Amino acid sequence: MTNNNIKRIAVFTSGGDAPGMNAAIRAVARTAIYHDLHVYGIANGYDGMIRGDISRLELRDVGNIMQRGGTILKTARSKEFMTVEGRLKAIESLKAHDIDACVAIGGNGTFTGASVFNAEHDIPFVGLPGTIDNDLFGTDYTIGFDTAINTAMEAVDKIRDTADSHNRLFFIEVMGRHSGYIALHTAIGTGASNVFLPEMTNSVEDLISELRISAKRHKLFNLVIVAEGNLSGNADELAKIVKEKAPEFDTKVSVIGHLQRGGSPTCADRVLASRLGHAAVEALIHGKKNVAIGIVNDHITYTKFEDAITKTKALNKELIDMAHILAI
Ligand code: F6P
Repeated sequence: MTNNNIKRIAVFTSGGDAPGMNAAIRAVARTAIYHDLHVYGIANGYDGMIRGDISRLELRDVGNIMQRGGTILKTARSKEFMTVEGRLKAIESLKAHDIDACVAIGGNGTFTGASVFNAEHDIPFVGLPGTIDNDLFGTDYTIGFDTAINTAMEAVDKIRDTADSHNRLFFIEVMGRHSGYIALHTAIGTGASNVFLPEMTNSVEDLISELRISAKRHKLFNLVIVAEGNLSGNADELAKIVKEKAPEFDTKVSVIGHLQRGGSPTCADRVLASRLGHAAVEALIHGKKNVAIGIVNDHITYTKFEDAITKTKALNKELIDMAHILAI
């Protein structure tokens, strides 16, 4: 079934930016124009929707953006959109521009906003998973994750050089308030000694005994990757405890921070974003609405917003176990 009522599509990015968002915007715009639809960009996420910050995107407006990090449409975490009044202003803006459907690119907060909006106003939305955290149910990977873990890996590789030279123990904090995907993949990719994840509690005592066993095996330096939201404390707090309880280790801390959010997207992220952006427009044309688009086992999938925001994508336990085995 096709939805011939859709003539004008708007696209926006919301929440934390993620490398590859521009490739997704390009794919949405180009696919829409290919199908003779008019496409509009909403600047600054839901805040821009409320303010009516909406302008036409032509073919060349999305040229030369594929390789750029960040988002040409800017982004925001809108407090006003969380209010009924804010959402009323947003629907008025969309109507004023005759927008028939929207493509929302972002994470859990973005999809929650779209879901609440859909319950109040009848306008088709589809969501594209755009977050470095890779924590969205309904897709194997989110746009930006691959670039973020490669950035983190390169940073940790550099820290490794100095850790090795000085025989030091480094606690390296990566992003992920609620999700350990970045931390786990970075830990495996850099051969870290240990990883602290938000999904499980590690004991610092256990870490210290493992480090002491490794020291007896002549392991002279150690890298411990810490997800910012892990339950045992951030990198600073963990390092403080270890300095007190195991002063024999020369302990240092490094927080990679927002470096992980920027930079030119990897090819994997560009391809993922292109596929998802193309699929979003095809989905709207074929009458789909209120779903998040994902790719699972290389196939495009459609997950109801309510499932995408309430169900969790569990970390692969086998990877966690393997990371520990390979770090002995
Ligand atoms: O959701 C992406 C993310 O980068 C998280 O990993 C991190 O906890 C958060 O955003 C940081 O958000 P902000 O840039 O608003 O401080």
